[in-house]
Amino acid sequence: MTISFEGKVAIVTGAGGGLGRSHALDLAKRGAKVVVNDLGGSVDGSDGSSAAADAVVAEIKAAGGEAIANGSSVTDDAGVANMVSQTMDEFGRIDILINNAGILRDKSFVKMEMGDFQMVIDVHLFGTVKPTKAVFPIMKEQGYGRIMVTSSSSGLYGNFGQTNYGAGKLGVVGFINTLKLEGQKDNIRCNALAPVAYTRMTENLMPPEAEQMLTPESVTPAAMYLVSEDAPTGTIMCAGAGVFSVAKIMESDGMYLGRDGLTAEDVAENFDKIADMSNAKAFFMGGEQTGKFFEKASGK
Ligand SMILES: NC(=O)c1ccc[n+]([C@@H]2O[C@H](COP(=O)([O-])OP(=O)(O)OC[C@H]3O[C@@H](n4cnc5c(N)ncnc54)[C@H](O)[C@@H]3O)[C@@H](O)[C@H]2O)c1
Repeated sequence: MTISFEGKVAIVTGAGGGLGRSHALDLAKRGAKVVVNDLGGSVDGSDGSSAAADAVVAEIKAAGGEAIANGSSVTDDAGVANMVSQTMDEFGRIDILINNAGILRDKSFVKMEMGDFQMVIDVHLFGTVKPTKAVFPIMKEQGYGRIMVTSSSSGLYGNFGQTNYGAGKLGVVGFINTLKLEGQKDNIRCNALAPVAYTRMTENLMPPEAEQMLTPESVTPAAMYLVSEDAPTGTIMCAGAGVFSVAKIMESDGMYLGRDGLTAEDVAENFDKIADMSNAKAFFMGGEQTGKFFEKASGK
């Protein structure tokens, strides 16, 4: 089995370095025409130039691939519109969108300025929503689209000092949970990647020896699968150091406690059974939970 992107057009945001660069190079190697977006700023999102994106485009071209650079910020409405119209003018379609751009502004919640909370949500959540909003109608029209968002173990599980980042990173999962439903009939699949890699973003948070193991190239195969023709939809794939796993939001089977005279003490006394995960399930859509509640409450 070969995963090919021949004839496909892909946009990768934040592809001037780190994981995004690695994704862009592999897409191009597999035949995709790639739009390398990067604002070229620092890890905290300040400053910027298109030099980072230009350098990756040069690398792709040197390897015989096709690519163009775009220096827009994913948070900027006009910039995003420009990125999409540039792609359509140059390549005429958009099959794949990898939302990868990201920044960090870590501080414990007590010390965090609201501006830093807002900025991180803007880049991770709105910086995913805006490019997706711009390409979604094009993908619908084409009857084909693959959208990947970039989550993080910080959002799925938590990481001290990252309330802002964690909120954004789980926000993008909530976003695709619904988008996957809205894209289904037009063959648009939406997945999330939760990567771990040694990049400029994490080099101060990881020991130097992590650099050998946690290469971006050992994460990228997960991204390629998640945007491929046979990709699943609604999947959260985790990847790092060549290890791959899937994360799911699971719900315990739960129990019906009756409604007559029901109190908080009933919940407290039964909490261990309520929280018993032995028959836990992951739902594909919210309505399945309501269905279960009806069934249990009507004694089925
Ligand atoms: N490295 C990890 O271990 C790790 C873990 C979990 C999630 N992630 C996520 O993976 C993604 C890639 O991170 P990375 O580790 O490669 O870091 P990185 O800093 O090397 O790459 C992020 C890129 O995004 C670009 N960018 C930032 N703001 C932008 C904006 N507004 N518009 C366009 N581009 C912008 C930056 O210039 C940079 O090139 C991020 O979303 C990050 O949060 C990384």
